[in-house]
Amino acid sequence: MVQYWAKEPQETGMSVREFSRRIFTSLWRGVYPKDQKGIRQQGSRCYRTLEIERQLPAPQANNCGGRWGNKGTRKSFSDRGWSYETFSSLRRTLIDNVLRRVTNTQASSLRRRAAEQLTGRGNSAPFLALVGVSLASGSGIITKEDEIEGVCYEIRRAVSGTPLLDQFKDVSKEKEETDAMELSLKDFLLGKVIAKGCSAVVYTAKQVEQKDDDFNLAIKMMFNYDAASNALTILRAMQREIVPARNVCLPRELSDSAAQIGEMVRVPPHPNIVEVLSVFADKVPGLPGDLQLYGDALPTRLNPGGSGRNMSLFLVMRRYDCSLRDYLLQYREEINSRISTVLLAQLLEGIAFLEHNGVAHRDLKTDNILVDLAGGPEHPRLVISDFGCCLADKNTGLRLPYRTYDTDKGGNPALMAPEVALAVPGTFTNINYEKADLWSVGTIAYEIFRGDNPFYSSETTTGLQSRTYSMTELPELTDAPPMIGHLVRSMLKREPQHRPSPRQAATIVQLLLWSPSAWIKESKTINSQEILQWLLTMTTKVLCESRWGNSSAALQEYQLVATFLATMSMQDIRASIHWIQDQLED
Ligand SMILES: Nc1ncnc2c1ncn2[C@@H]1O[C@H](COP(=O)(O)OP(=O)(O)OP(=O)(O)O)[C@@H](O)[C@H]1O
Ligand SMILES: [Mg+2]
Repeated sequence: MVQYWAKEPQETGMSVREFSRRIFTSLWRGVYPKDQKGIRQQGSRCYRTLEIERQLPAPQANNCGGRWGNKGTRKSFSDRGWSYETFSSLRRTLIDNVLRRVTNTQASSLRRRAAEQLTGRGNSAPFLALVGVSLASGSGIITKEDEIEGVCYEIRRAVSGTPLLDQFKDVSKEKEETDAMELSLKDFLLGKVIAKGCSAVVYTAKQVEQKDDDFNLAIKMMFNYDAASNALTILRAMQREIVPARNVCLPRELSDSAAQIGEMVRVPPHPNIVEVLSVFADKVPGLPGDLQLYGDALPTRLNPGGSGRNMSLFLVMRRYDCSLRDYLLQYREEINSRISTVLLAQLLEGIAFLEHNGVAHRDLKTDNILVDLAGGPEHPRLVISDFGCCLADKNTGLRLPYRTYDTDKGGNPALMAPEVALAVPGTFTNINYEKADLWSVGTIAYEIFRGDNPFYSSETTTGLQSRTYSMTELPELTDAPPMIGHLVRSMLKREPQHRPSPRQAATIVQLLLWSPSAWIKESKTINSQEILQWLLTMTTKVLCESRWGNSSAALQEYQLVATFLATMSMQDIRASIHWIQDQLED
């Protein structure tokens, strides 16, 4: 478990010296996962590791994403819009300052062994160790704003390269975004039906060559009533579905046409976004039970009365254990407020990432959110799925020109934000979706914490209408921690400008989960040095845990912390602490 991370050194009675020693030792071990004696005896091996790190491709000048950087408009975790060169020179200046002025033993040992490594492009860990030592020694060296953001950059960079987040590394730089690989249905074995939605059916699946009987994939077959039966037309017609896809397969003869697929933004991998491993178009197959389940969507080849086309789109996904809706129903008794808070944090991380990449999901509901229970029901990992209604336009971004009522505003009207539901078309009207998903998450928070959504009607009650509700009609979130109640209310403000940004909302919940309790219980000024110390303590823990592993349950939590560390900025954290403290004063 990871609750103790957040403790400040003072809280545990730890001396500054001891604190700095621990940060230094664990970060140093994080770099060399051998015992210290082994390292001394095998100095050359240590250097080899760092040399390998240095060979990694350098980030682009307009991209500070480190190993997770990517091209074009795709923005991965640690991409905060600063250039690597800026940070590189900042790092050098900072190291010079620290090595000159800090005189404790850790610093001198660092000076001896690591000065050249510290200034290299490679591993951030020794640099962070040095920062930790200098912070703990209270020398007040890191005070300038750009230096502080520089350290945050190093943290993002170090964490985004850990195995905890490795499977979510964006490989688009190393691989063409659209592959000419000829994957097709014949490469997969379909199992049983998982679910049928309005626009698709989802089957369990495995690769044909897979030896075991584990149907660990899910294949979503879209219902195609309109698009002509050729791969390019189908991919273009259903291009929203492929927004999170890592790999789009086109028949070899069409690979030159890949650029014509569309003007959609593609979202890089993220722990809280569905893993769509591959997408391809193929002939609709005849499968047991298909006539009863979705006969109408079948082509006449398979059902003379069907109105489906001969080919359709197939999405190969990782298979998740259930939808959030089913998880909340099945485990209601076991879900305590901490688990609910973790779920909310993951959901907010997911939509903050989408917003950062210029994507609005526009159909958030518990059926479209999936849950991985590999760490057990008390450690769920949630992912946002079903991008069939999303807005991901490279040209217009999150502002949709709204000229006529025919324009598609998204799915599920019950959970549609007021500014979207109330928009009136006009020559100059744009609907701004920047905070629309956030509003929907505010309503879903009720389902997570209490079980019911005040915006849904039941047999006995009429739900609130997003067009007309007033803040006084929102029920109390009595089962949630009071600060979550405040946050959910602010996410549900009618005017988007009065809501926090998705990034800020995510940061607030992460702070509620992991920050020192004094920060969220009493109104006091928290300075940047304290925040940096806390960030470094968490970074230490994440770097170490990701190397030596832990139970898969704990790893789920570390992954959530890593997601935060790989995205945070000092500015966001300060704003979020202010927000929390303002609520304390009210
Ligand atoms: N990767 C997956 N692993 C496990 N179950 C999945 C997966 N993808 C989808 N499902 C299940 O299938 C259901 C339908 O999937 P999805 O929402 O993508 O289809 P849809 O037809 O677009 O839905 P809608 O009815 O919202 O239009 C989900 O609610 C979920 O229960
Ligand atoms: Mg759906």
